[in-house]
Amino acid sequence: MATTATAAPPATRRDFLLIATGAVGAVGAAAVAWPFVAALAPDAQTVAAGAPVEVDLGPIAAGQIVKVFWRGKLIFVRHRTDAEIKAAEDVNVATLPDPQPDSARVKQGHANFLVVYGNCTHLGCVPLGNEGAFKGWFCPCHGSVFDTSGRIRQGPAPINLPVPPYTFVSDTKIRIGEESKTATKTAAA
Ligand code: FES
Repeated sequence: MATTATAAPPATRRDFLLIATGAVGAVGAAAVAWPFVAALAPDAQTVAAGAPVEVDLGPIAAGQIVKVFWRGKLIFVRHRTDAEIKAAEDVNVATLPDPQPDSARVKQGHANFLVVYGNCTHLGCVPLGNEGAFKGWFCPCHGSVFDTSGRIRQGPAPINLPVPPYTFVSDTKIRIGEESKTATKTAAA
């Protein structure tokens, strides 16, 4: 994993660390802890095997971002507000540095949850959530600005925050590390 070039950013009320400690079935349950939860390294065998991890979405309030580790990579799980979804959708995609519609970055029927890798696509720093001109993420290292879809909008990062493979196993649980086989039909919350 890329190394962050700055000290860890200060935690905010919306910036939580969710701990995933094992293979399928292991769920970070510390989403309500604040200001910050000490990190536990994922089980080494789990990391080596790249086993999927499940994340319970229930404790994540609208507007909150939690952090999960899968295969040793940081992943943001963001419960977007209606306003954040609208901001992500109301964009002329053709004007984006890395054109991608918001609908291609979320699961059908689950636009309220965005799941993206958590390292800046410039040099790997960890951007700050709910910061920057578009209130998505702001990377203080060199000024990259991401929107509420994790798309690069300003600064040197060349591409959007990538979306990892994941699937909804229920309306309130995702499994990271396993791609959806078919489009999810569940209606948005
Ligand atoms: S690492 Fe994020 S802007 Fe350089």
